[in-house]
Amino acid sequence: MSKLQPARGTHDLIFQEARKHLHILEVSRELATQYGFDEIETPIFEHLQVFTKTLGDTSDIVSKEMYVFKDKGDETLTLRPEGTAGVVRAFLSNGLQRSLPCRFFYQGPMFRYERPQKGRYRQFHQIGVEVLGVENPMSDVELISMGQVLFERLEISEKIFLEINSIGDADTRRRYKEALVEYYKKHLSSLSEDSQRRLQTNPLRILDSKDRKDLEINEGAPKFAEHLNSDSQKIFAYVQEALTQLEIPFQVNPKLVRGLDYYNHTVFEFKTTALGSQDAVLSGGRYDSLVEMMGGPGTPGVGWAAGIERLCLLLDKAPEKTRPITLVPVTDEAEKYALKISHELRQKGLPIEMTYSGNLSNRMKKASKINSEVVIIIGEQELETETLTVKHLDSGTQSSVKKEELMSKIIEFLSK
Ligand code: HAM
Repeated sequence: MSKLQPARGTHDLIFQEARKHLHILEVSRELATQYGFDEIETPIFEHLQVFTKTLGDTSDIVSKEMYVFKDKGDETLTLRPEGTAGVVRAFLSNGLQRSLPCRFFYQGPMFRYERPQKGRYRQFHQIGVEVLGVENPMSDVELISMGQVLFERLEISEKIFLEINSIGDADTRRRYKEALVEYYKKHLSSLSEDSQRRLQTNPLRILDSKDRKDLEINEGAPKFAEHLNSDSQKIFAYVQEALTQLEIPFQVNPKLVRGLDYYNHTVFEFKTTALGSQDAVLSGGRYDSLVEMMGGPGTPGVGWAAGIERLCLLLDKAPEKTRPITLVPVTDEAEKYALKISHELRQKGLPIEMTYSGNLSNRMKKASKINSEVVIIIGEQELETETLTVKHLDSGTQSSVKKEELMSKIIEFLSK
């Protein structure tokens, strides 16, 4: 039987889950259009190098979570673990450096070999936005504010809070890393095994360790803010002032460093306390060296991505399915006529369902089970008199109409 179950960490989207997912896509697509984004769709698999250098060899994603495989032509390919590197690859492959700034919205599945738990899957879906070619931190604020509006439109903003930080420029990070290494070396034997390893590979990552021993040591660790140079300080101050002016509540979390190598300056996460340890709902930041890292000309970038499954978990209920108008034909001849009527009504944009078997009473039960608002009954008598019986199920009102009057009767019943 186990072969009939979905692979570990994957799930099917059906009924309510599918409707929640679609609702999030519709709301975010509309928002992206209002913010002037073009939708981009990049391939689900890419060459391995698209992710290795850019996300960082020592990042969790590259070091242990990627699905890497050889295809039959011996190419090493990777199921995309995230969207940003693929969007930047597409930006370069398509020579878009000449059309800056570029503003892209994307959505689709991502793949990470993680330990599955509530809100954490091996195949999950993201919506994301990337802005390329704008250095002004105005765009950092614009994107954060867009995240806030998304939560408001999904009516989940009370469950979410915003944390921001600055990880400065390359010079800041180099000096800060040195200070961290010096500090952690003094606590080496008390650090978790993972963090002892990170001290060699990427000491910044110790700061977002969830290990209890590390958490204590992190309390006394040097703070990024103390190492920011004046340019980085100015940018961070601007972001905070602009957020305050927009009345977007936020907290500065000095330990927020994000797990990927491509970030600099502003990083942010919208989090929730409703999902246990999987608390990040929408995360992102600035990445001014990523295009260069991938071999392109220096081009600043900033963006975010949100996990659709985590957003779904925060939605109280799925949007209701539109109530259909259901055809109830009760003879073979009536079924053929019902096909014609259903085609005409669907062409007019109405949501039409059909009943396929049973007598009048069975079919009426089916129509009410699928929450029909109106049914159209076609029996022998209706065929003889060239009429249709239209019934409004909530009120029980029923009326016999000629075909030409059908549409106006439906409209009358739907506005009840
Ligand atoms: P990330 O923080 O790795 O950033 O992922 C973004 C969001 O994807 C997270 O906040 C979370 O909601 C969701 N997510 C991540 N992993 C999982 C998982 N295993 N299961 C379910 N949901 C998950 C990025 O991916 C960056 N590309 C974001 C970005 C865009 N930065 C700049 N531009």
